[in-house]
Amino acid sequence: MKKIFLMLLPTLLTLNTYAQTDANMGIIPAPVAIKKTSGVFQLDKTVALISNETENAKTADLLNAFIVAKGGFALREAKSVTAGQKSIVLTSVGADKLPAEGYTIQITTNHIKVVGKEAGLFYAVQSLMQLMPDKNQDKITIQTAEINDYPRFKYRGMHLDVARHFFPVSFVKRYIDLLAQYKMNKFHWHLTDDQGWRIEIKKYPKLTTLGATRSGTVVGNYPGTGGTDNETYKGYYTQEEIKQVVAYAATKYITVVPEIEMPGHASAAIAAYPELSCFPDRDTFVSGDTPWSGSRKGKQVQQTWGVFDDVFAPTENTFKFLENVLDEVIALFPSKYIHIGGDECPKEYWKQSPFCQQFIKDNNLKDEHGLQSYFIQRIEKYINAKGRSIIGWDEILEGGLAPNATVMSWRGEKGGIEAAQQSHEVIMTPGSAGLYFDHKQSNSPDEPLTIGGFAPYTKVYNYDPVPKELTADQGKYVIGVQANMWSEYLESPAKVEYQILPRIFALSEIAWTPVARKDIKNFTEERVPLHLAKLDQTSANYWVPTPIGQNDAVLNGENINIELKSPILGAKIFYTLDGYRPSENAAEYKAPIKVVVPQGQKKTLKTIVIAPSGKRSVVTETTLNNGAPEVKTK
Ligand code: ACM
Repeated sequence: MKKIFLMLLPTLLTLNTYAQTDANMGIIPAPVAIKKTSGVFQLDKTVALISNETENAKTADLLNAFIVAKGGFALREAKSVTAGQKSIVLTSVGADKLPAEGYTIQITTNHIKVVGKEAGLFYAVQSLMQLMPDKNQDKITIQTAEINDYPRFKYRGMHLDVARHFFPVSFVKRYIDLLAQYKMNKFHWHLTDDQGWRIEIKKYPKLTTLGATRSGTVVGNYPGTGGTDNETYKGYYTQEEIKQVVAYAATKYITVVPEIEMPGHASAAIAAYPELSCFPDRDTFVSGDTPWSGSRKGKQVQQTWGVFDDVFAPTENTFKFLENVLDEVIALFPSKYIHIGGDECPKEYWKQSPFCQQFIKDNNLKDEHGLQSYFIQRIEKYINAKGRSIIGWDEILEGGLAPNATVMSWRGEKGGIEAAQQSHEVIMTPGSAGLYFDHKQSNSPDEPLTIGGFAPYTKVYNYDPVPKELTADQGKYVIGVQANMWSEYLESPAKVEYQILPRIFALSEIAWTPVARKDIKNFTEERVPLHLAKLDQTSANYWVPTPIGQNDAVLNGENINIELKSPILGAKIFYTLDGYRPSENAAEYKAPIKVVVPQGQKKTLKTIVIAPSGKRSVVTETTLNNGAPEVKTK
């Protein structure tokens, strides 16, 4: 028993003293300004929680519930401070002077004063909860400090594709919780695509009776040879469920931005209503490598990934359909922004279609790109008339940008740069910068199947959403940043968690923290390890990072020093140099090691990180080479 206690002690001590040692007091995203003072505020059950504005009551309750879970005691809630009473005061008085969504926290030995309005106060409480260490003998000891904080960007987004794989409302709410904890304020809900239509539209019931179901899902990598599983896959959200999610998100100051894809990625809608196609009688065709290419009988919801030629025909019937769909979407989502997709729309069917060719002529359009632009502009006009604005993926630049559109730059930064130069709002979400969270987090063969790419959390952290090519004035059009969670290979909520954690920490910091306050060393070596140690105490299926200081590049030399750090507080690193796969039976890394590699030889350092819960990282291999030929490169 005693032994176990001693083993746990270092972790608890570290968590307990963390606020005192870390420059950012453990807060992610790092606040704009933080000044630690000498002293502590002892939080115990004698402290009163003062909150006298009704709109702040929920935030006060949130804090109190957290203190119950963390400290084992609830604070007495009161309307005003009495003399000599230690207190935490939450107030909006004075918040009008703060930047939008901003807050201040003053921690002195007797009082904690938190100032913020609505979202600002909510974010202040998120910070306060993050900086609280674990209790020690019925007290939570909080470092005294002054924090002044507000976001760099007004759009801080996280996306979730529920078309390729469907996620239940319960998980969507958990996802929203996670976003809120890290001060993200937009949830981009990708609701329709070729593989499923996931939102109930009352006027078009077949969208969900037919369009929400596919007859199989590709097995393994695509394109590959695994075939499809021939199993029915289905799911959609009723309008009642959508309302629930929107209302839930609002309590966390998150706006839900719905995406209805057009004119491409329309197979599911077309499977339900074939008349929306340029060729209603044509069987669904899957192009690409064998064994996938070929016709499917009738119009089908797609079973494989990729891009499909059968897109919306620009007929009056289609526009009426889309307007009716958008009417219901607009009624469900109070978001200023409605995302209309616009990406990856092949022009093949429009080229082949006599109707489309005549349409291009009649409307004096240059070509099919002009038609895409016409399509988007017409939809924009409709949405603008309803008082809302469109967001589209950067393909909406092709053939001419709709006048009021916001561009989501995903194919690198080019689209975002062009749009900002044309004085359009931009949200940066380039896959090349690590913002596709469906990409893998390490090159280890232990990683599960992903779509590919390589986006470790350090890459995400190093990205600045305002491209260097923009002038200061143009840069102001970059209203924010988002990461995307495409779900082709995310079959379960657990895998979504694996892909988002810890990368959302890095996303939140590039979305919130001023560039001058970013500090990758403090982030990776201090705060991420703390946040992951806390997550490790939950059931979250987070990705366990590989050791800090190691990567899979080759190290050359005879005497090679290996200096590693644990990426999670309390986690251990085990290693081998004999070719075996490391486990807890291998040597534990406790201090820097010097590896001697004889001339003409090489060795392989293999490591694994094992968290206190037993969760483990992938195995990372580093080749140590002293002039040996044929070094394996990755
Ligand atoms: C996208 O990744 N097709 C926007």
